[in-house]
Amino acid sequence: MIATQDYFPLLRKKIKEIVNFNSEYYEEKHLRRRVAIRMRALDISSYREYLRLLERSEDERRKLMKVLTVNVTEFFRNPETYDVLRRDVFPELIRMKENTGSRVLRLWSAGCASGEEPYSLAILAKEVLGKREDFRVRIMATDIDNESLNKAKRGVYSRRELTGVRRDYIKKYFERMGESYRIIEELREMVTFERRDLISDRKYRAIDMILCRNVIIYFSKELKERLFLDFYESLNPGGFLVLGKTENLSGEARKKFKIYNNVERIYRKEAGPPSPHTFPRRY
Ligand SMILES: C[S@@+](CC[C@H](N)C(=O)[O-])C[C@H]1O[C@@H](n2cnc3c(N)ncnc32)[C@H](O)[C@@H]1O
Repeated sequence: MIATQDYFPLLRKKIKEIVNFNSEYYEEKHLRRRVAIRMRALDISSYREYLRLLERSEDERRKLMKVLTVNVTEFFRNPETYDVLRRDVFPELIRMKENTGSRVLRLWSAGCASGEEPYSLAILAKEVLGKREDFRVRIMATDIDNESLNKAKRGVYSRRELTGVRRDYIKKYFERMGESYRIIEELREMVTFERRDLISDRKYRAIDMILCRNVIIYFSKELKERLFLDFYESLNPGGFLVLGKTENLSGEARKKFKIYNNVERIYRKEAGPPSPHTFPRRY
């Protein structure tokens, strides 16, 4: 009997090389499922044939990247989490800053997709800070998917994409552009979008709150554990880490972070003596 070669391992390797996607750190199940979506659409039944197509077609590489990254998102996703951020976390951060004399809040939306999450944060910050003009809020928003990032930078959304945004927020923080709505300039200026791979790129430092929600679900166990420790290093003492509603802290990081709100998956780095990273750096 002639054994048929399984081309999946080769395909996985090629995805890293030619699609620029760190496939070895994602669960195999996830990769197989996502690749199958493209193969079905193309009516291709073997990995070998799909691999050939991937090697010669730039368009297919772009399409595969799109399905691999799963960009589903929305404004104020899991509103109850944002309620806790508004009611407890932001006031806590502001108090903390007042005690240290700093007036800059540095937030990071890691895996920001098309921008709904960082802009929700910007809206929340504006609401909490009200007329206080002594505070500056900088939001770093990163993702590996360039198409999503381009949409995020434009900040233009359809009416349907604004489901979940309060009417008064739409009035205050969006401007009409024909049938669409654009985030106002003041909020756009609070957010810096950048392509950064959570797996292989440099992490930010001196961050006060990291939101990494619905991003790591498909990452391998080892990678998740390493990433949580990286986040710990990225945070200022007293800083917060917010995961997705179904995600849990794991590995060494469980001993380092304190649970702040179990239901909303909010964790906190203990406030300690200022670390060398306490002062804002250039990013
Ligand atoms: C389902 S969306 C989540 C968006 C938003 N955080 C939310 O909860 O609504 C997941 C995002 O993570 C991004 N992503 C996946 N792997 C990544 C990586 N290694 N580095 C950075 N972003 C990544 C995807 O491109 C996608 O935009």
